Amino acid sequence: MTDTGDTNTLTVRDNRTGKEYEIPITDGTIKAGDLSQIRTDDETPGLATYDPGFVNTASCKSSVTFIDGEKGILEYRGYPIEQLAEKSNFLEVAYLLIHGELPSKPQYDTWVHEITHHTFLHENVKTFMQGFRYDAHPMGMLMASVGALSTFYPESGNISDPDNRHMQMVRMIAKMPTLGAWAFRHAQGKPYVYPDNELSYTANFLSMLFKMSEHRFDADERLVKALDVLFILHADHEQNCSTNAVRSVGSSQVDPYSAVAAGVGALYGPLHGGANEAVLRMLRRIGSKENIPDFIKGVKDGNEKLMGFGHRVYKNYDPRAKIIKKACDDVFEVTGVNPLLEIARELEKIALEDEYFIKRKLYPNVDFYSGLIYEAFQFPPEMFTVLFAIGRTPGWLAQWLELVQDKEQKIARPKQIYTGERTLDFVPAAERWS
Ligand code: SDX
Repeated sequence: MTDTGDTNTLTVRDNRTGKEYEIPITDGTIKAGDLSQIRTDDETPGLATYDPGFVNTASCKSSVTFIDGEKGILEYRGYPIEQLAEKSNFLEVAYLLIHGELPSKPQYDTWVHEITHHTFLHENVKTFMQGFRYDAHPMGMLMASVGALSTFYPESGNISDPDNRHMQMVRMIAKMPTLGAWAFRHAQGKPYVYPDNELSYTANFLSMLFKMSEHRFDADERLVKALDVLFILHADHEQNCSTNAVRSVGSSQVDPYSAVAAGVGALYGPLHGGANEAVLRMLRRIGSKENIPDFIKGVKDGNEKLMGFGHRVYKNYDPRAKIIKKACDDVFEVTGVNPLLEIARELEKIALEDEYFIKRKLYPNVDFYSGLIYEAFQFPPEMFTVLFAIGRTPGWLAQWLELVQDKEQKIARPKQIYTGERTLDFVPAAERWS
C-alpha cells in the first residue's frame, strides 16, 4: 500500500480482503505494475489488466505524433497535419518525424542528398524479387524484401551506434520506393527501372513505376505534388497496429529492417493498411448508387463492413480523409474523375446521416478516399498498401528510434489469462491408438 497523501491517486478497495490501496495517477494513467500488489495471499499472483487489442492501454511515452480522436486533430511533432500537407514536403516531414524538429537548409540539403544517393538496391535483391510468382501480392514481396535487407547490412544489428542507426534509417527511407516500384514492375512483367537521381523523391518513384523506353519519365507536377501530400498524410499515426508491431519486434533489439518488416506485415491486413485496397473492391462490388441501400442493410445485418469507415481513435472525421478528399479534385483534373467517386460520396452521405453509423461514431478514415486517387494514378488495388507503407516508413523509424532510446522500455512480453487444461497424464501413441 502507498500513502502518497496527494489527490492525484486512485484509492482501490479489494473487497476480497477489505484492504485499500492508493495508486498514483500520472499522465492520465496508472502503472499496471502498481496493481500487482493487490493480492489475496502471498501464493496468489497479484492483479494484472486484461485488454485485448490494447484498447485502453498505453504501451509507451512518445513525442512523435499527437491525435485527438474526439476533435479530429493530428499533429506531427506538434505541427498540424493540415499545415504540413499544404506547406511542407515528404522528405522534410520525414526529417521532422525522425529528428524531432524542422531542418535548417544545410540539414535539409544533406538529408535529401543522403536519401537520393541510397535509392539503389544490391543486384541480388533484384534477383531475389524476380523469384516471386508472377502474381505475388506486392505487399508480400515488400515484407520479404525489407526483411532481406537486414542480411545485406548485417552491421544494422548494432542499434546502439547513432551513426549506424542514422545510415540504416536513410537507407530504408531511400530504398522503400525502389522496392515498391520493383514489386509493381514484377507484377506487370516489365523490366525493373533504376532510380534517377536527377528527380525528386516522389518524381523518382513515379519514374521507377511508369518509365518505359523514354530517356526520362517526366510525371505531371500536379500528380507528383498529390502523391507527396499522400505520403505526408500517411507518415505516422502514433501507436497504430503496424507501429505497435515495429515497437514490439524492435523491443527484442533486432535490427530496424526486421522490425519494419514486421510493420509491413501488420499493415498488410485489411483492417489496417489493406483497407484502402478493400475500399476499392467494395465500391466496385456496389457498382452503382442504386445498390447502396442494399449494401448498407448488409452492413447493419453484420454481413458487411463499410471499409474505409471507423477508427480506433477518431470518433470524428479523420482529418487526413478531409485533405485526401480535396486532393481528389487536383488529381482528377489531370486524370479525369474516377467514376467510383460518385458512389463513394453517396455512400459517405448516407452513412453520415444513418443512426447505425452515428451511434458507433463511424466516419471516413484515411483509407476511404485514398484508393480512388491511387486508382486514378493507374495503380492496381494490390499496390495501394505499398504506397501506404512507403509513406509510413519515416513514422515507423521515428517510433523505433524513440523505443531504442527510451530507458523505460523493456522487451515486449505480455501476460495471459490461461484457459487450457492442467497437469494431464500423457498416454503414449501406441496405447492411445491400440
Ligand atoms: C487504418 O490505428 C490507426 O491509426 C490506423 C490508421 C493509421 O494511420 O495507422 O489510421 C490506418 O488502419 C485506418 C482503419 C482502416 N480500416 C478500415 O477501414 C476497416 C474497417 N474499419 C473497421 O474494421 C474498424 O473501424 C477498425 C478496425 C478501424 C477499428 O476497429 P475497433 O476500434 O476495434 O472498433 P470495433 O471493431 O470494436 O467497432 C466498434 C463497433 C462495432 O459494432 P458493435 O459490435 O458494437 O455493434 O463499430 C462497428 C463494429 O462492428 N464497426 C463497423 C465498422 N467499424 C466498426 N461496422 C461497419 N463498418 C465498419 N467499418
